[in-house]
Amino acid sequence: MGLVNTVDILNHAEKHSYAVGAFNIINLDFLNGILDAAETMKSPVILNIAEVHFPYVNIEQITPAIRYMAESTTVPVVLNLDHGVSFKAIVRALRCGFTAVMYDASKKPFEQNIEETRLVVQMAHSVGVSVEAELGQVGGAEGGKKTAKAKREFFTDPAKAEIFAKETGIDALAVSVGNVHGFYEGEPELDFDLIREIKARTSIPLVLHGGSGISDKDFRHAVELGIRKINFFTEMSKMATDRVRELLASNEDIFIQDFLKEAKEKIKEVVMERMMVFGSAKACALPGNVCPVGGTHTGRAECDFFDGQKSLPAESSGVASGNISEAEIIDIVTRAVKDLMSGSGKN
Ligand code: 13P
Repeated sequence: MGLVNTVDILNHAEKHSYAVGAFNIINLDFLNGILDAAETMKSPVILNIAEVHFPYVNIEQITPAIRYMAESTTVPVVLNLDHGVSFKAIVRALRCGFTAVMYDASKKPFEQNIEETRLVVQMAHSVGVSVEAELGQVGGAEGGKKTAKAKREFFTDPAKAEIFAKETGIDALAVSVGNVHGFYEGEPELDFDLIREIKARTSIPLVLHGGSGISDKDFRHAVELGIRKINFFTEMSKMATDRVRELLASNEDIFIQDFLKEAKEKIKEVVMERMMVFGSAKACALPGNVCPVGGTHTGRAECDFFDGQKSLPAESSGVASGNISEAEIIDIVTRAVKDLMSGSGKN
């Protein structure tokens, strides 16, 4: 089917009240495990590559493989830059052909977050790429070895979320509502009233980062209230690592190719379970399958995934195209250069 942007799939998730899982990848084993899971579950999927993982994965190398793999899946796949914090990472992702980017200026002052995010939106929309941004701060670190606890002072302010969504033109908003990246210190306590309030004030899909450690019951409740994208990594990585440890401990004849294969299978298993919980399983059933969101499909044309929308090529995607002026491009590039010179654009 090829790559699509998040607008294409989150509209469908909104219409049918489910969430799409966004799973981080750092190599082809992650990629294959996640895509196998999506294909088996007939679920749309978002592949995340986080800027913080650039030391593990070269996006110029892996993107052609991802595009190739996405072409041969029957489900919609998004390739998303996760937590792009430097302009350089955003530009690299756009050049590589990512179909979505997250620009994360959540640690910067509110006005600066708006201003910078707006520029990224103009740039990305002009080539049909969707944009997610964060307001409030989701703490912790994905794949981190330490646990973290959410701090209320960093929760998303609903009134500011309304302004932020309007002023920036983003396509999805990452919220801080008791969620943190990596493992939780104690039990996660999501503020469901806050999700409800943010949802009431914004008309765009909401994103829950820090999925690892959240219970199935809490996921379902969050999805009922309007969460449409869920980021999930640490637990998937831990479970695959535990499987590898088990194998290594039990059999001295294990070689790298054996445990990579097992890790891939474990990733597939974990992702399939999450797709069931998030409600995305079978959301895009194709010929012969019963689609729980709308009867029996006999072909792609009947699938409401593409109602009134177009998937990529990016230039013709469902994202509103921004008219980016020459002055704005110069401004963006100037900022990117400054960013690089200040050292925040390494890798
Ligand atoms: P976890 O690693 O806590 O699942 O969070 C992933 C994430 O939010 C990536 O942006």
